[in-house]
Amino acid sequence: MSLERSSWRTNLGFLLASIGSAIGLGNIWRFSYMAHQYGGGAFLVPYLVALLVAGIPIMILEYGLGHHEKASSPLSFVRISSRFEWLGWWMPVVAMFGIMLYYSVIIGWCVNFLIYSFSLAWGDDTQTFFFTNFLQLSDSPSNLGGIRLPILLATMSVWLACWFICFRDIRHGIEKASLIFMPVLFMLTIIIVGWTVSLEGASEAIFSHYLHADWTKINLFAADPQIRSEAGTVWAAAFGQIFFTLSLGFGIMITYASYLPKKTDISKNAFITCMVNCAYSLVAGLAVFGIVGFMAHSQGVAFEEAIKGGPQLAFVVYPKAISLLPGFNSLFGVIFFTMLVIAGLTSGVSLIEAFTCAITDKFDWPRRKVATAICILGFLGSIIFTTRGGLYVLDIADHFITNYALVVGGLLECLIIGWILKATVMRKHINRFGIGIHKTWAFFIKYTTPAVLIYLLYLSCASDLAKNYEGYTSSQLFTYGIGCLLFCLAVALVLTAYPWKPEKLKRRHRPEEDDLLV
Ligand code: ALA
Repeated sequence: MSLERSSWRTNLGFLLASIGSAIGLGNIWRFSYMAHQYGGGAFLVPYLVALLVAGIPIMILEYGLGHHEKASSPLSFVRISSRFEWLGWWMPVVAMFGIMLYYSVIIGWCVNFLIYSFSLAWGDDTQTFFFTNFLQLSDSPSNLGGIRLPILLATMSVWLACWFICFRDIRHGIEKASLIFMPVLFMLTIIIVGWTVSLEGASEAIFSHYLHADWTKINLFAADPQIRSEAGTVWAAAFGQIFFTLSLGFGIMITYASYLPKKTDISKNAFITCMVNCAYSLVAGLAVFGIVGFMAHSQGVAFEEAIKGGPQLAFVVYPKAISLLPGFNSLFGVIFFTMLVIAGLTSGVSLIEAFTCAITDKFDWPRRKVATAICILGFLGSIIFTTRGGLYVLDIADHFITNYALVVGGLLECLIIGWILKATVMRKHINRFGIGIHKTWAFFIKYTTPAVLIYLLYLSCASDLAKNYEGYTSSQLFTYGIGCLLFCLAVALVLTAYPWKPEKLKRRHRPEEDDLLV
């Protein structure tokens, strides 16, 4: 069987695909409800600190590792030491069986709402429409209550679209799709943000709730233990959000960088990916806070009363605001939900790709068959989230994956690259072409980032032990949260147990690729 790997056709194709992986539902759907839930502007401070302390250093690390090894995440780690292969599997398994299963269902909701936009089917009471008519939400996660057919069908269409992109090689699948989707996504976003901030009441809400920080909400050193504990939750959520939004700790960026040729400016690409992604989130935040301000203004209520937090934000607040627009309501809805679908798809394919690439690297099975089997399995797995209790399961799984699984993945990556492979070796590799990274990076990877991530894990544990997340029962949290993590670990260990072909474990260099990219 051939050992040849596909590769990106251009650096722009790689960048757009990586930015497409990063920019997703996390930037619009997740970032907006996190920013709202954790104090508007106050959330931005830990978010930006997390970007500097963990986001950028780990992005450089993941690109560097994938490029150095020219391999998927498990193959990259097994080449460092066979003791770490499980971590190489853990990350894409979490991406595929932890995140993508519910991520595809949320894209499915967006597909449903895109269709509803044409007739503004949600009516006046969007809250009742979303929970009672659309989700038919059950009373607890212990009561899944059967499948919702419209959600199931929309989810199936999402898996079909992802399969259509992923079963081709990287150049003809994900790269081509990103070249089409990303410019469209940027254009739609500009239209939505421009439209929203021009609405009455929008700018006032942006200045008083989004660009204004309540510092007590993030004060980790407050005298009051209650304030300290709440601040810890905000910091932990901000770091979790940075991992989620930058697609770090998923094995995706390692995989994407493995398709790059030798002469590549790793650090520049990493900076661009982080900056474009976070700028996109900040700009998308303007639209969310702006639209709530508009709603509050048109209903004559206070900002706090107009907004409903949580994962339903985009599906309750936006439809309501769309109905209240003075004109072109359906057009606004269609553009907004198309934007969400595109953002979701370009991330969804990357979540599948990290696992597909890992399986083809290890077993040498044909890519098309692997991608097809994975998409079928993925669709079957996502059915649980299409049930009437699916929203609860999603909320619990998302909390445990982002606050623990991704952060642990990032922490172990730093320790392994920093101390075993040696951060200096990686820095030397990264600095061979393009702008060099300063030796502070190696210091961050060895000391600062791990220390901060350990502290963050401590904060998350303390907060979860002090109080059950969102009031769920311990057995519900164990079944859908810890159970999900244990399942991913078990799959990672089973895949690790299968031996590699010895020739795979050697690093390969293909000189003919050196000048491919411009
Ligand atoms: N990075 C992707 C997102 O933010 C997973 O949605």
